[in-house]
Amino acid sequence: MSQIKISIANPIIEDEEIEEVVKVLKSGMIAQGPKVEEFEKEFAEYVGTKYAIATSSGTTALHTALLSAGVGNITGELIEKDNIDEVITTPFSFAATGNTILHAGGKPVFVDIDKETYNLDPSKIEEAITDKTKAIMPVQLYGQPAEMDEINKIAKKNDLVVIEDAAQAHGAIYKDRYVGNLGDLACFSFYPTKNMTTGEGGIITTNNEDYAKLARKIRAHGESKRYEHDILGYNFRLTDIGAAIGLAQLKKLDGFNSNRIANAEYLNEKLADIDGIKTPVKGKDSKHVYHQYTIKIEKGNRDDWVEFLNENGIGTGIHYPIPIYKQILYKNLGYNDKLTNTEDVASKVLSLPIHPSLTKEDLDEIVRVLKLANDKL
Ligand SMILES: Cc1ncc(COP(=O)(O)O)c(C=O)c1O
Repeated sequence: MSQIKISIANPIIEDEEIEEVVKVLKSGMIAQGPKVEEFEKEFAEYVGTKYAIATSSGTTALHTALLSAGVGNITGELIEKDNIDEVITTPFSFAATGNTILHAGGKPVFVDIDKETYNLDPSKIEEAITDKTKAIMPVQLYGQPAEMDEINKIAKKNDLVVIEDAAQAHGAIYKDRYVGNLGDLACFSFYPTKNMTTGEGGIITTNNEDYAKLARKIRAHGESKRYEHDILGYNFRLTDIGAAIGLAQLKKLDGFNSNRIANAEYLNEKLADIDGIKTPVKGKDSKHVYHQYTIKIEKGNRDDWVEFLNENGIGTGIHYPIPIYKQILYKNLGYNDKLTNTEDVASKVLSLPIHPSLTKEDLDEIVRVLKLANDKL
């Protein structure tokens, strides 16, 4: 049986993270405490926003941000079918992007992606706006910012809130601003495969004081005072254990990202003349931080490429094989979209290892095996 020698992801946990966690464990405060506060302060500073609110995951960050922005309700009342808020988003993402809109009591409205960057196509947004639309939620897919100027322009014109799903794009930059500071609210994930981790965890960033206050309240069961609740909140808190890992990781984020970018540039150059694949297309005004390095298979069958790569020791991922509207959950809700670029891309993408700990030998091996695959398949 073949064995994966070069894995698709490799979280880097070193002595600093371990020492910081041990300090927290010995402190007696292991739930949300001073480390979470310190982490929020440092993350907000990094991104350039006034506020950051840490949560238990990227999913709960999105759920909280949507509720804070007025999508769905926080009153606990059932929402009538005719009054459901709509949120425009991309179907080419992890399911959490759509699911969190449902969690909040909203309806995801899916718009097709750009066929080069695979991010939400701003030119298709306006035709999807109705009198129920409350927000636009672009995803900064694979670590690459969407066309935020266009998206913000449409949002402003139509009085909509912009929530970045920045789960994959810590440290990415659009024009001269960091991802996380490009809309009204943004949400990051710190799942272990991400560009930085807290174990499980997430964070919301915003410059809006009202959103920040409400998000903090939603995170803690809607408490106005100790044991007094006037809205429907949740327990979406991050622990000090996670925050201690996050503080150590944040210091290394730029270094991790530089390695990812150098790896991607190396692969771009070496894979350029392989006719069966298309290398990632970078937007003109952005710093792409390559959470994923995703190629498009343009010859033969993707499954055969996956099998060939895996048999030769190269780990792969498919991000994402099924458009969100085609998930059974969504079929059961009555979705029957068929968006051309999304369908095409979902059937052909393949992610290669790009994580910061790859060696030059690893990268050369990936190139060698891809060349072989291209000759054979
Ligand atoms: C685009 C996107 N949105 C949301 C999430 C959810 O984050 P988490 O796994 O931390 O809940 C992820 C994580 O995989 C993601 O990639």
